[in-house]
Amino acid sequence: MEPIWSRMVKLLGVLFAACLLAACNGGEPEAQKETPVPSETEKEGPIKIGFSMDTLKEERWLKDRDLFREAAKARGAEVEIVAANGNDALQISQAETLIQRGIDVLVIVPHNAEATAAIVHKAHKAGIKVIAYDRLVKNAAIDLYVSFDNEQVGKLQAQAILEAVPKGNYVYIGGAPTDNNVHLIKKGVLDVLQPAIDRGDIKIVYDQWTEDWAPENALANMAEALKANNNQIDAVIAANDATAGGVIKALEAQGLSGEIPVAGQDAELAAVQRIVTGTQTMTVYKPIQNLTTQVAELAIQLAKGEEVMTSVSVNNGKTEVPSILLAPTAVNAGNLADTVIADGFHSKDEVYQEAGK
Ligand code: GAL
Repeated sequence: MEPIWSRMVKLLGVLFAACLLAACNGGEPEAQKETPVPSETEKEGPIKIGFSMDTLKEERWLKDRDLFREAAKARGAEVEIVAANGNDALQISQAETLIQRGIDVLVIVPHNAEATAAIVHKAHKAGIKVIAYDRLVKNAAIDLYVSFDNEQVGKLQAQAILEAVPKGNYVYIGGAPTDNNVHLIKKGVLDVLQPAIDRGDIKIVYDQWTEDWAPENALANMAEALKANNNQIDAVIAANDATAGGVIKALEAQGLSGEIPVAGQDAELAAVQRIVTGTQTMTVYKPIQNLTTQVAELAIQLAKGEEVMTSVSVNNGKTEVPSILLAPTAVNAGNLADTVIADGFHSKDEVYQEAGK
């Protein structure tokens, strides 16, 4: 008869083999259970939004960053925000990293309207939708474009300055030509000024883009305009408040600040303070909180695979992009209280602090 210890060893062997098998198979019923594959709408965990910004150099972008983060968080989404400081290669590599880190939707403020098309292709290859924020991406099939009506920005600037200076020599200080907005703003300006130009009432004696929207470049251009025209300048339209600040420094150097009407955009604090003290005539206010809440809402919808309907589309050279264009407002010394102060964009104390009022 087979000794007891050898029969024991065999039994243990079998038991061990069975356990091993069970572990491998995880039990038939288990193996059958489907690991849930994330579907478009039932994504596990919060929706993750990637926000690729050109720069944080101008005051407004700090507001965009903070208000967007707040708006997305308030809707249960996570946001990862990066800024490229005006560097195209960096913006592209930052976006690639966001895509690799598993974002569900990409929101982008392009530094260069053309160069960022590459990012859209990469995002789409990864099944990620793209929203162009404030500035259009050109020549790529972006999913949505949300901004302010930039042509209207230019119209508001030109209407205000034409009212103040119906006749005379004008200087146009445009923004960065890599930014699609500057072409829309300028079109709006010329749409308003053209009849007066055709009548010979006004003459644009200097017209220059501002590399990278840099105030120091705007200052240099304005100094050149003053020199080339023996200071015979009657009005200046600058594409934003940062460049208007550079213009006003150049006017100051010639003892002309406060004499020559200047238009800007963005309702920066320094600009509204200049409006109070009289060295700047007007600015265009764009309620950033409207833009951030809309885009946060729409980004979550796109991430869930929901369709977004818009009443407007903008052609970006590749396709008719579904678009939303928000309304800007002209701001001058007469309506600061009803606009930027009423909205809490700036406090009354801040606005009047420089004027000591
Ligand atoms: C534009 C934007 C403006 C301005 C500028 C400079 O695209 O619409 O508000 O600030 O960029 O960054």
